[in-house]
Amino acid sequence: MVRIVVVDSGARGNALLYAYAHSLKESQQPFEGLVLGSLCASREDYVDLGNKEQVLDRILRYNPDLVDVAQDEALASGLVDTLRERGVKVFGPTKKASRIEWDKLWARDFMNRHQIPTPRYASFGHAQEAQAREYALRLIAEGKKIFFKAAGLCAGKGVVGASTKLEVEAAIRTMQERGAASQVYLIEEGIIGEEFSYFAIADGKSFHCFRSAQDNKRIYDGDNGPNTGGMGAHCPALITKGIDKRIIDTIIRPTFQGLAQEGTPYTGILYLGGIVTSSEEINVIEFNSRWGDPECLVVLPGIKTNYFELITKTIEGRLSEMHPEEDSLFRVAIVGASRGYPDAYEKGKRITFDSGKFPKQCWIVPAAVVERDGAQYTNGGRLFSVVAQGENLREAQKIALQGMSCFAVEGNGLHFRKDIGYRDLNRNKN
Ligand SMILES: Nc1ncnc2c1ncn2[C@@H]1O[C@H](COP(=O)(O)OP(=O)(O)O)[C@@H](O)[C@H]1O
Ligand SMILES: [Mg+2]
Repeated sequence: MVRIVVVDSGARGNALLYAYAHSLKESQQPFEGLVLGSLCASREDYVDLGNKEQVLDRILRYNPDLVDVAQDEALASGLVDTLRERGVKVFGPTKKASRIEWDKLWARDFMNRHQIPTPRYASFGHAQEAQAREYALRLIAEGKKIFFKAAGLCAGKGVVGASTKLEVEAAIRTMQERGAASQVYLIEEGIIGEEFSYFAIADGKSFHCFRSAQDNKRIYDGDNGPNTGGMGAHCPALITKGIDKRIIDTIIRPTFQGLAQEGTPYTGILYLGGIVTSSEEINVIEFNSRWGDPECLVVLPGIKTNYFELITKTIEGRLSEMHPEEDSLFRVAIVGASRGYPDAYEKGKRITFDSGKFPKQCWIVPAAVVERDGAQYTNGGRLFSVVAQGENLREAQKIALQGMSCFAVEGNGLHFRKDIGYRDLNRNKN
């Protein structure tokens, strides 16, 4: 019996557990798994991933053969290091290696040390309000949009854009209010272009890159409205077509080499959030030290190589023996969210599902759905995703929308985007 724990709260945890389950079934090994921290867990089983002692206790009690730490806070807490010390087989970067995500200032300085393309930036403390204002206004006078970023983890709420004096004042106030995470914050030059997500797996010595993806972060169609954790994604993304080699040569490889040179070799998944300008310059927006959610929902199912074996070999430092392969299908994931998200929303609403109309080539990945007396109820902002695959992007999008139309949340409480993948669909038209 192989026992696996995935540490994560959202859809990503379930998608990863599914990848392990699928691969172990393929190799006919009996399997048992747990997603620790899941918002789908019952009240008794729920664990707050910020509570390291409790997380550790639950993991050790489960006695797993493999632990996959997939969530930012858990990585930043040093859970990987602690599990390793206890002799548990664990996948994910150490606390020091994951600093590339949990300390945005350290990450930018690291990129500079290794000539990795990064926007202009400067850092400030709470006491340096005047200097921050001056720097911000200087960039704005040059006609730049700028971004204020808390250096620490902020659950996706630490970045504020500004392009006017008024917005600069508001952004400075926000940084002062973000507490410990923004004690140090960055002001950086905004890069104009299109964003993409790129994922690599590494064992400290070698690495392998997967197909690129693009997510849609804004709440409304056409990338309008406030930012969210991600309202959907598609894979592969055309935006990186023809520049993969450059992404690898100028960003991915120097990053892994730099981390190893600095004594923090990276084992785990590295997520590059990048931006391509109209003149095809590539810049790093940020690095994360784990899979992206929702991107993993569309990248993972395309990996044909046995995922359990891939991860096991990577932990053993034998990634070079593997030659990961991906299929050539297109995938779209649409996130179903509570109406009101990312602002206030209600929990505990009944979810209904018309399974009769649910298409083939389509599946559901829960994120924050709880069961009570055989019925399903909402338990968060991003509730579940519908993922579909097809021979082309349009087909995948169409199937995913059909799948989503089978769901309803009490009181017209379900919100989702109808245009996931639209940038590539529009590109195809030209
Ligand atoms: N320098 C930049 N140029 C252009 N857009 C940026 C820049 N920095 C951040 N952004 C925008 O803000 C979003 C959030 O910033 P990011 O650094 O990814 O922080 P986080 O994901 O931790 O909130 C990005 O996805 C991007 O849309
Ligand atoms: Mg980001």
